[in-house]
Amino acid sequence: MTTVYLNGTFEPQEQARVSIMDRGFLFGDGVYEVIPAYGGRLFRLEPHLDRLQNSLDGIRLGNPLTRAAWREVLEELLRRNRDPDDPRDDQSLYLQVTRGVAPKRDHAFPVPEQATVLAMSSPIPAPSPELARIGVSAIRLPDNRWQHCHLKTITLLANVLSRQQALDAGAGEAILVRDGLANEGAASNLFLVSDGVLRTPPKSAKLLPGITRDLVLELAGRHGIPCREEDIPAADLDTADEVWLTSSTREILPVTKLDGKAVRDGKPGPLWQRMTRLYQDYKDAVRAGTAA
Ligand code: PDD
Repeated sequence: MTTVYLNGTFEPQEQARVSIMDRGFLFGDGVYEVIPAYGGRLFRLEPHLDRLQNSLDGIRLGNPLTRAAWREVLEELLRRNRDPDDPRDDQSLYLQVTRGVAPKRDHAFPVPEQATVLAMSSPIPAPSPELARIGVSAIRLPDNRWQHCHLKTITLLANVLSRQQALDAGAGEAILVRDGLANEGAASNLFLVSDGVLRTPPKSAKLLPGITRDLVLELAGRHGIPCREEDIPAADLDTADEVWLTSSTREILPVTKLDGKAVRDGKPGPLWQRMTRLYQDYKDAVRAGTAA
C-alpha cells in the first residue's frame, strides 16, 4: 500500500482526496518537483528546494513548508514506501504545491490563500541494459510553450502534447525548437557532443534548469571533459557526434536516431558511455552517503 502526504497528513494513496475547487485542478495553478532518492538517500535535495522556491516566487505563491519540514516529509515518505524486498531502494519523489481551494472559480488569487501540498513516491526501475545497446529516438518539434520555461509549473499541456506527438511518431522524446534554437526536450535537458566538446544551452527562461544537467556539467568539469554552455542551433543536431537528453527520472539518455535518421553510427557514443559510468558512480556515492 502506497502512502502519500497531503496537507500535513500521511495517508494511503487510495484515500487521499483534493477538492474539485482546487486551483491546481481548475487552472493548473501550481508548481512541482521530482526528486530521486538512491538507497533511501535524497539526491541533491538543496538544489531541488532552491528550484522549488524559485518556481514558487515565479508564480507568487508562498512556500508552505520550511526546508527542514520538506526534508522531514520526504524522508518519512521514503521510509514508509520502502520495499523491503528491494535492496536497491531507489525511489522518485514527486511534490506539488498549488494555490489551494477557493470558494468560487475566479482567475484572481484567493484571499487568504491556503496552499495544497502533496508529496508521493514511486520506485525507480534499474536502468535498462537495452538503453546502452540501442539508445532512444527523438524528433524535433516547435516549442509552443509559454515564455517562463524556467519555472517548474504543473501547467504542462504543451509538454504533454509534444511528448505524445513524439510517441505517436515512434520516438521516445521531442526536442523543442524555438527561433531556430534547440532548447531542451519535452521533459528533459539537451546535450550535444561536437568534436569532443560537450555543449548544452545556457540557463534562461527558455528551459528548465535541470538538476541532472548541472550534475553532468559538474562531472564533466571534474573529469576534464571540455564543455560549453551556448545556444544550440537546431541544425547542429544533424552534424552532432552525440546527442543526449537528461532528467532525474531517465538519467542520461543517448539519442541514437533523430527525425528518423541515425545520429552518427546510430549507437550510444563513447562520451555517453563515459559520462553514464561517472553518473552511476555518483549515484553509488549518494547511496553510501559520501557524494559531494
Ligand atoms: N521533468 N526540462 C523539462 C521541461 C523537464 O520537465 C525536466 C524534468 C527537465 C530535467 O530536469 P531534472 O534534471 O531536474 O529532472 C528538463 C521531470 C522529471 C518531470 O516532469 O517528470
